[in-house]
Amino acid sequence: MDLNGKVALVTGGSRGIGKAIALKLASLGAKVVINYSSSDVKAKEVVEEIKGLGSDALAVKANVAKMDETKNLIEKAIEKFEKVDILVNNAGITRDNLLMRMSEEEWDSVFNVNMKGTFNVTKSLIRSMIKQKNCSIINIASVVGITGNAGQSNYSASKAGIIGFTKSIAKEVAKKNVRVNAIAPGFIETAMTDELSDKVKDEYMKNIPLKRLGKPEDIANTVAFLASDMSSYITGQVIVVDGGMIV
Ligand code: NAI
Repeated sequence: MDLNGKVALVTGGSRGIGKAIALKLASLGAKVVINYSSSDVKAKEVVEEIKGLGSDALAVKANVAKMDETKNLIEKAIEKFEKVDILVNNAGITRDNLLMRMSEEEWDSVFNVNMKGTFNVTKSLIRSMIKQKNCSIINIASVVGITGNAGQSNYSASKAGIIGFTKSIAKEVAKKNVRVNAIAPGFIETAMTDELSDKVKDEYMKNIPLKRLGKPEDIANTVAFLASDMSSYITGQVIVVDGGMIV
């Protein structure tokens, strides 16, 4: 796979799955814009790592839940690299609770980042991608957007929303050769899943036929495939990367 000459934007790219995606795309030759919302230090570290790989990168702080900050992110990306060919909507949060106990704030915050954030970034970039043609948008959903999960009605609904959004936009922009796909990760070892107890992790393991938890690189490799011309006849799809968990 060769991404030389391509520019990628990865939201939430300073740690976890987003960081692995940014490094993978850079290792294949892409220049990468790292969006982050909190840690300047971590974002700068990823930029330096990418430069060490011989590519170029830019870190831009922006809360993707806010349209004005998102527009600024896109402006800065285009100012630096003139275009974006690959968009990875990866930023996401959880605020788990049973519906009976779930606050409106827990519902809204998850929707504002996961769903509205995906809308804000895609909307802000879609015109330039349509003009440019041969672009790829990859949205990070979740297996729970397909199966549902007790205690995650807000998160599951937001991820199911991302799947509907992916398919709709894929139909809107296919004639301009802009492809839009989603990845539904299973259980991936990151800060997001570190919060879970060993008991919960053991329960997940029992249901994973490949008998290991996923690594951020498992998702990054799938993103690389969807970003590259190797997947040029694939659009509107949801690729499940979960070690067989929901088969
Ligand atoms: P993480 O918590 O390590 O990383 C999430 C990233 O999103 C962080 O860099 C964070 O700063 C950023 N972010 C959060 N709110 C933001 C905002 N408002 N604006 C900009 N950036 C923001 O989580 P992880 O595990 O790396 O998750 C990445 C994506 O993968 C998320 O969308 C998550 O829902 C999804 N996912 C993760 C799974 C897992 O098992 N870890 C499973 C299924 C999906």
